[in-house]
Amino acid sequence: MAGRIGKSVFVCQGCGYQVAKWLGRCPECGAWNSLAEEMVPTGPLSEGQLPPRRSTPQPLRHLKAASEVRRASGLGEFDRALGGSVVQGSVVLLGGDPGIGKSTLILQALDRLSVEGRQGLYISGEESEAQLKLRADRLGLKSPSLLVACETCLENILKMVEEVKPAFLALDSIQTMYTATLPAAPGSITQVRETAFRLVQQAKITGIATFLIGHVTKEGTIAGPMVLEHLVDTVLYLEGDRSHAFRLLRTVKNRFGPTQELGVFEMQETGLQEVPNPSALFLAERSLEVPGAVVVPSLEGTRPILVEVQALVSPSSLALPRRQTMGVDPGRVSLLVAVLEKRVGLAMGGQDLFVNVVGGVRLTEPALDLGVALALASSFLDRPVPADTLIFGEVGLTGEVRAVSSPEVRLKEGRKLGFARALLARRQQEHLGDFPGMELLGVDTLATAIRSIFP
Ligand code: TYD
Ligand code: MG
Repeated sequence: MAGRIGKSVFVCQGCGYQVAKWLGRCPECGAWNSLAEEMVPTGPLSEGQLPPRRSTPQPLRHLKAASEVRRASGLGEFDRALGGSVVQGSVVLLGGDPGIGKSTLILQALDRLSVEGRQGLYISGEESEAQLKLRADRLGLKSPSLLVACETCLENILKMVEEVKPAFLALDSIQTMYTATLPAAPGSITQVRETAFRLVQQAKITGIATFLIGHVTKEGTIAGPMVLEHLVDTVLYLEGDRSHAFRLLRTVKNRFGPTQELGVFEMQETGLQEVPNPSALFLAERSLEVPGAVVVPSLEGTRPILVEVQALVSPSSLALPRRQTMGVDPGRVSLLVAVLEKRVGLAMGGQDLFVNVVGGVRLTEPALDLGVALALASSFLDRPVPADTLIFGEVGLTGEVRAVSSPEVRLKEGRKLGFARALLARRQQEHLGDFPGMELLGVDTLATAIRSIFP
């Protein structure tokens, strides 16, 4: 980019404050370690350096709607996360922890997308050709139209793309790519942003559907804090617990479909396998009628998934009892414990508390409050929750049970898996009236919920 090079300044990635020298802390907003080196133009650009004008203003109603060209990969859970299929010219960012399966997923998807006349080009900056071959064999990739290359320099990549003219392009990972026009090191914010920016421009001009793979930093953002998320059309996160085989593909942003969608995979010897019916899988090893176990219907996007929440409450020998959670927000659990103590009268103060979502899934919905609270109460009272009962509802600070979104979808999934009863907010139950095949128990407060489950 002519004219983009100039003098170097340090810019706070949080508030935009600029200084000439690096500082550990931004003097403007107080953020630590937020300054990154950037190049700013030294003076105004001359006429020749300006980019060509892209369009002239015109009435909105004169614009022609672009007919979105979409291609489904046939990898159902991947397509689902993308809102049905891959859109031509769109840029998708796939983020996730190292080793979670991003390269595997993109290779499997590209292999299915690449056909005669619509080639896929996968560019790796992390692995050698020999490693790629090993992986491809393991995954059983077979499309003759999937090309691979090992390269990290953006200018070379753009040349390759010009030669090959692929329909689909993947860069694994964006943090290893760099443009030779900037002196900054690969992986630095300036490099990541500039390379991504130019790839996005290319995608819009050529119509190549582009996948950028990005590693997530410790803070949980894709390096180059947020800059990438703003640049691209779609942001997907692949997550899961490495000690479990489940992988969840979450849609965080999507200009071409609903967000909050969720694809479910299982990592096997031969790559990621789709899990079209996750509830059955998550409940496969369920222990029936054990104190502390509750099944909750979580709703991720439009998709209901039944998962088992387990709690263990036992007297502590420590001055400061332990509270450990996996898959649920510890703050939310603390809040529920406080409500159980204060509004229900269960004295959990001196107890060690453990809460776990089975299968290594992470759940954030408030609709799971009631289930988590009942799992805690069930373990504390040492009385099991009936195995045929599904539990959902948000719990407020006064112990009231509130309605949640899309109850029918949750109930249908429960009925499909053989649940005969559901405990939910009374207002919601009244609103629903009858639900064929299931008995609905409506409750106003957490205390009533506990009384009706453990009479
Ligand atoms: P990978 O796709 O390399 O992760 P990322 O690109 O997100 O860093 O996947 C890494 C892990 O997946 C690795 O530990 C091995 C495992 N794996 C399988 O279990 N089966 C497979 O077929 C493949 C290719 C990988
Ligand atoms: Mg990888």
